[in-house]
Amino acid sequence: MIKKVSETDSQLLAMIHKRCFNDNWSSQAFWEMLSQDVFFGFLSMEKEAQGFILGKMIYDEVEIITFCVLPEFRNRGIGKMLVDEVHNHAQNHFVEKIFLEVSEDNVIAEKMYENFGYVKISRRRGYYCTRKSSSDALVMQKSIR
Ligand SMILES: CC(C)(COP(=O)(O)OP(=O)(O)OC[C@H]1O[C@@H](n2cnc3c(N)ncnc32)[C@H](O)[C@@H]1OP(=O)(O)O)[C@@H](O)C(=O)NCCC(=O)NCCS
Repeated sequence: MIKKVSETDSQLLAMIHKRCFNDNWSSQAFWEMLSQDVFFGFLSMEKEAQGFILGKMIYDEVEIITFCVLPEFRNRGIGKMLVDEVHNHAQNHFVEKIFLEVSEDNVIAEKMYENFGYVKISRRRGYYCTRKSSSDALVMQKSIR
């Protein structure tokens, strides 16, 4: 089941995010985003939460802010369902373009976005930077009208 997220899911989203990425987004950070009207998201949930996607919509553009599926639920089509949900939401709100950033190292996600029709439009050098490593972000875009 895919459900719309709200501020009350913030702790759950922070827990999922922490298991999927090296950086740590607090539940407070999710709460603050989701209490603003421009942010929206979808959660895949069966007996337990599986993954989520969070977007930001301003006028006719959407940016995918973060997106992840817990390792034990990957490769079952959940990621594709979540992206489809964002596309439907964007279409229903007369959005023209969707943007996202993906690390140049993230071959799986990049391939998935390409399959959805996203194209690379620019590169942000050293965007993902930790004490140990740095990688560029590829900025990808899809027109949906
Ligand atoms: C990217 C991610 C969300 C995909 O979630 P998922 O539920 O496994 O995705 P799906 O099962 O719907 O697969 C979607 C597509 O991803 C690609 N993919 C998934 N697993 C793959 C693998 N092991 N190798 C290559 N491609 C793969 C394929 O293109 C697949 O489409 P296909 O089944 O038609 O070939 C998940 O891998 C994840 O959470 N990764 C860590 C966080 C992350 O990288 N988020 C994206 C940041 S931009």
